[in-house]
Amino acid sequence: MNQLLPKLQRIPPEIAAVADYEPFARERMSAQAWAYIAGGAADELTLRDNCAAFQRLRLRSRVLRDLRGGHTRLELFGRTFDHPILLAPVAYQKLAHPDGELASALAAGTLGGGMVVSTQASIGLEEIAAQARGPLWFQLYVQHDREFTAELVRRAEAAGYQALVLTVDAPVNGVRNREQRAGFALPEDVEAVNLRGLRPLEGPADGRILLGTPLLETAPTWEDLAWLRSLTRLPLLVKGVLDAEDARQALAAGVDGIIVSNHGGRTLDGLPATIEVLEAVAQAVQGRVPLLMDGGIRRGSDVFKALALGADAVLVGRPYVFGLATAGALGVAHVLQLLRAELEVSMALTGCRTLADIQPELILR
Ligand code: FNR
Ligand code: LAC
Repeated sequence: MNQLLPKLQRIPPEIAAVADYEPFARERMSAQAWAYIAGGAADELTLRDNCAAFQRLRLRSRVLRDLRGGHTRLELFGRTFDHPILLAPVAYQKLAHPDGELASALAAGTLGGGMVVSTQASIGLEEIAAQARGPLWFQLYVQHDREFTAELVRRAEAAGYQALVLTVDAPVNGVRNREQRAGFALPEDVEAVNLRGLRPLEGPADGRILLGTPLLETAPTWEDLAWLRSLTRLPLLVKGVLDAEDARQALAAGVDGIIVSNHGGRTLDGLPATIEVLEAVAQAVQGRVPLLMDGGIRRGSDVFKALALGADAVLVGRPYVFGLATAGALGVAHVLQLLRAELEVSMALTGCRTLADIQPELILR
C-alpha cells in the first residue's frame, strides 16, 4: 500500500484553480480509489471530450455595460440558491475522505448551494440530511426490488430532501478498464449503506453476459418513470439525458427537470460531450422545466458557457471530490468558491448582470 499524505488544514497558494486539486487529491487517496473516481469508461474518449469541448468554445466580450445590482442568484423548485453550481451525486465519498458526504453537504450549504446525494452514498441519507446546512436532492437508482425502491423514496421524503433525481443512464456500469487494471474493490469500511437489506440479484451461470440476465430484465423503463411520478409529489428530475427525443418523452411523462449528463464519461465511451448536445436538448425543452447539465466543468467560464447554451444550473462531480480528498469540507468549499469567482469574472467581462443575461450570443460562433 502506498503511503498517503495527510489531508490539508489550509489551502496553499499553489492551488489557484480547480485543476490544481488533482495532484493533491491523488497523493491523498489509494491508487484504487483514484482509479475509481478519476477514471471513465473504456478509452475515456468521452471523459476527455467533456472537458475539451468546453475549452474549444470562445466567449464574446461586451464592455461598458451597467453591472450595478448584479448577482448570481436563481430559484429552483421554489427555493433560492446563491449560485447555479450544485454538487453532483457521487457514490462512496468516504473513499476520498473519512467525513465523506457530510463534508460535501456542509460545504455546499455554507456556500449557499445545493447537493444531490447518491443512492450509493457511503453515509446514510438521513444522517446527511440531519447535518446538512442547505437544500439536498436525492439521486435515485431504481433497484430490482421495486418495493425497496419505493421505500428509498419515502425515506428521502421523510428526511426532507427537496427533489428526486432519477438517474437513467447507468442501468449497467460502463466498461471500467481503469478500475479493473488498478484492482479496485470497495474497502471494508465503505458501503452503500442506503441499500442495506436489499436482497442480492442473482445472475444465471449459463453464459449470458448482460442481455437476458436479471440485471437488464429488471432495469428501469419509461413505465418506472410513470410509476415514480405517481409515487411522489417531490419535484422529479431525470439525469442522463443526451437526446432531444428522450427529453421530449421525459417531459410528456411529467418530469419537473432534466439533467443533460453522460455520467462524467463513466458509462458509454463514445457518447458526445454534454456541452455539445446541450443546445439541442434546450430547444426540445423550450424552457418548460429547469434544464441542468454536468460533465467536464472545471472553470467558472465553463459554467458560463453551459448557461449561455441553455442550462439554468450545472452540477460538478470530480472537481469537488478532489477538493474533498485534499482538504475535506474546506476543499469542497474552496472548489465552489473558485468556480463562483470565475463565473462572476466571466459575467462582468461579458456584460452580464444576472444569470438571465447569459445568452447564446455570448458564445462566438
Ligand atoms: C459519479 N456519478 C454518479 N451519478 C449518479 O447519478 N449517481 C452516482 O452514484 C454517481 N456516482 C459517481 C461516482 C463518481 C466517482 C463519479 C466521478 C461520478 C456521475 C456524476 O453525478 C456526474 O454526472 C459527473 O461526475 C459529472 O462529470 P464531472 O463533473 O465529474 O466531469
Ligand atoms: C458510478 C456509479 C455509482 O458512476 O454511478 O460509479
